[in-house]
Order: sequence, then structure tokens, then C-alpha cells
Amino acid sequence: MTDNIGQLAETAETLGMGSLRLTDNEFRAIARLVYENFGICLGEEKRGLVLGRLQSTLHRRQINDFSEYLAMLQQDRTGTLLSELVNQIATNHTAFFRENNHFQYLQQKALPDVLERLQKQQRRDLRIWCAACSSGEEAYTIQMCVMKSLGMQYAMLDAGLLATDISTKVLYQAAQGSYSGERVQDVPGDYVQSFFRLQADGNYQIIERVRNEIMFRRFNLMNQVFPFKPFQIIFCRNVMIYFDANTRMNLLQRLYNCLEPGGYLFLGHSEAINSGSTPFKNLVPAVYQRRPA
Ligand SMILES: C[S@@+](CC[C@H](N)C(=O)[O-])C[C@H]1O[C@@H](n2cnc3c(N)ncnc32)[C@H](O)[C@@H]1O
Repeated sequence: MTDNIGQLAETAETLGMGSLRLTDNEFRAIARLVYENFGICLGEEKRGLVLGRLQSTLHRRQINDFSEYLAMLQQDRTGTLLSELVNQIATNHTAFFRENNHFQYLQQKALPDVLERLQKQQRRDLRIWCAACSSGEEAYTIQMCVMKSLGMQYAMLDAGLLATDISTKVLYQAAQGSYSGERVQDVPGDYVQSFFRLQADGNYQIIERVRNEIMFRRFNLMNQVFPFKPFQIIFCRNVMIYFDANTRMNLLQRLYNCLEPGGYLFLGHSEAINSGSTPFKNLVPAVYQRRPA
């Protein structure tokens, strides 16, 4: 009986998989590091996920337990272990043409409006940022839509797309621009025809003409300074769901400052904000505008 109670207490305090155990305190210390460095909130319900995803790191680095791992994280001045940690912990789910009505809005409303303003100002620089781009599907979707919409006019512009994420793992995949047939199945046929090439290994590669227009970079949205020239269009979708309310409001203000007057911000549909509490004007679900000057 006493043994049973002892076992129950241990299950409550630690979560074990194989021989690895993650105590309450160790989980909280990892969650704090992830929150302080990347803004990502890991609630108690993520404990199994943390243990599952970090097992391979501990195994590969021949680290015996989480207390040793935490000590190494705290001593690591290179940031390598933290970078590996976020590679393992961040959720990277994404897809081509995800929340497709945003891309229709981009082509039918936002782009024509931005181009008209550029023309009036006698400018040619079209600047778009895909923040939290994951493995690239969203960035390539934006770029394909822009090129498809503008046709020959695209070459007359000084256009570029910056695509950033915190995870080096997904950025590497993004830069390859090669996707399985399954991932490409939601891409409309005419886009596949124009912008992908079927490779010998059965994957589809984004053509060079599109890849050359996108700059993939590691960037942490928790940086208090966004060292970029303002954009006309920003996509920052399905990342704020991992942040708490304060972090979201703070990020929204920095995104606002990073938009030109009249510029557009696209959020994930589940992240729609009450624009009354922000300087943005809400146009359609999850699409916002910095008011024109
Ligand atoms: C669920 S994916 C969303 C991908 C894409 N935007 C979409 O909507 O399909 C969230 C991405 O946000 C990234 N992320 C999480 N925290 C971040 C941070 N602090 N700075 C930059 N990117 C972050 C993750 O690495 C992940 O790739």
C-alpha cells in the first residue's frame, strides 16, 4: 500500500519515458527558458511533448538526464543548445495556400492598392515580409501569387520577399524548396505547371526564378528592434497562438511600426484581434491595415 502511494506520488511529480525522467522543476525550468527567449508558452499539457521531443537531443549529445541538460543550456554561450531546443519544441505545421482566402485578398485587393500607391509615389520597391515562415510553403505561396498577379509587370519592380523563422531546421527545408507530391496537392494545377518542376526523386521543386526572389533568414520575433525598412505587406500567421496576451500586443505594435502607412498585416484566422485595442483598421477577418497617411 505504502509502495503504491509512493509510486503515485512519483508519477505526479515526474514524467518518464524509457529511462529518461522529467521532474516538475525541470519542466518548469525548460518552459521558462523557452518563454523568455522565444515567447512560446508551454503549459503543463505540453510536458509529454517536451519530454518526447527532447529525448533525441539528450541521446545524441550523450546527456544523462534533464538536470545535466539544463546546466549545459545555462552555460552555453554560443546559443547552439537554445537553437536546437527551439528547433525541437516549436510547432511548424504549415501548408501551401493555407487559409486560402488571404491569398485571394492579397491578389484582388492588397496588391492592386499597394501598387497604385507606389505608382503615385513614383516608386518601384515592393517589400513583403513573411514572418514565421516555417518550411517555406507560405512564403512560396505569397511569391507565386505576386508573380502570377503581376505577370510581366513584376520584372519592372524592385520586389523582394523576406521570409524569417526562429527554427534553423525549417529554414533549411524552406531554402531547398523541394516538396513531396502530398504537400503540393493543394496547389492549383496552373501554379504547379508554372512554378514547380517534378524531380527524378518524385518531389516537386520550386523553380529558381521564384526561389531567387526570396531571402530566408533566422529572426526571432521577440527581438525588440526590427531592423528592417518598412514593408507594404506582412504575413505573420499562426505564430501568435503560441504567445501570451502581453507578448502578442507587444509584437503587434512592432509589426505596426514595421509597416508603411496603408500597409497590410495578415494574421492567422484563429489569431484575429480586436482592432479597437490596436492602431490597426480591420478590413476582413484576420486582415488589418495601418491607416494610410
Ligand atoms: C505553426 S507555424 C506557422 C507557419 C506559417 N506562418 C503558417 O501559417 O502556415 C509557426 C512558426 O512560428 C515559428 N516561431 C515560433 N516562435 C517564433 C519566434 N519567437 N520568432 C520567430 N518564429 C517563431 C516556429 O518555428 C514555426 O515555424
